[in-house]
Amino acid sequence: MRVKEIFNSDFAVYYEKFINRLSSPVQVNRWRRALIRGALSVVPEPEVIVDFCSGAGNMGELLLEEKPGVKILNCDISKPLLHLARERLENSGYYICSDNRFFPLRNSVVDVLFSSFCVRNSPEPYLTVSESLRVLRKGGVWAVLDFFKPNKGDMLFKLNNYLFKSFMNLSRLITKSKEAIDYLFESIENFFTMSEFVALLNKSGFRVLAAQEFMGGVAGGVIAIKEVENV
Ligand SMILES: C[S@@+](CC[C@H](N)C(=O)[O-])C[C@H]1O[C@@H](n2cnc3c(N)ncnc32)[C@H](O)[C@@H]1O
Repeated sequence: MRVKEIFNSDFAVYYEKFINRLSSPVQVNRWRRALIRGALSVVPEPEVIVDFCSGAGNMGELLLEEKPGVKILNCDISKPLLHLARERLENSGYYICSDNRFFPLRNSVVDVLFSSFCVRNSPEPYLTVSESLRVLRKGGVWAVLDFFKPNKGDMLFKLNNYLFKSFMNLSRLITKSKEAIDYLFESIENFFTMSEFVALLNKSGFRVLAAQEFMGGVAGGVIAIKEVENV
């Protein structure tokens, strides 16, 4: 599977250790923080927290700033990235190599589930949505951050999208990994728009509480509550 190979490659580790480390404080950490605050505003004292597609623990690191001492279950398909997460989070949680179509969890046990840049990478996004619903308890929160398929043509979006694509093309030159950046652009084109995703959640047993655009709509964050009893 192409995605699995990309995220298990040396490129992924290099990208996480250097490029993401330098670039995240400029923009993406602001989006991650907004997601964390949105989730905690609904469930202020979560006991069971899962970060699916945790990668190298970027979300967990910020969550620990907001809520020192919490334990996070980090799930990802990439062992090298989970290893980085374990180092970064100083072992403050659990680390399971798993696929986002099959969550290694019982029904209705999770208070807060984070999925940042995760659903778009799923080979079967509908399955990832139904797994997310299955593992959350009623009233639990799914906090999703992603690059949704654009459906905007205004100047603010065009300018931000140009900046985003230029940065990614620069990363392609630095890392010499054409395939990974090509895959990123393709995956965005093949993904849901944010409004399609919100509609899907609202008809799948969630109630979307907030949907926020970042960088003029280049990225988006969604906070959804599980409304139904066990599924
Ligand atoms: C762009 S990174 C995002 C990591 C992290 N959530 C963040 O905000 O930095 C995408 C992550 O999704 C993981 N991933 C991709 N496909 C996956 C799958 N099918 N199941 C589980 N994880 C997957 C990758 O290994 C990678 O760590």
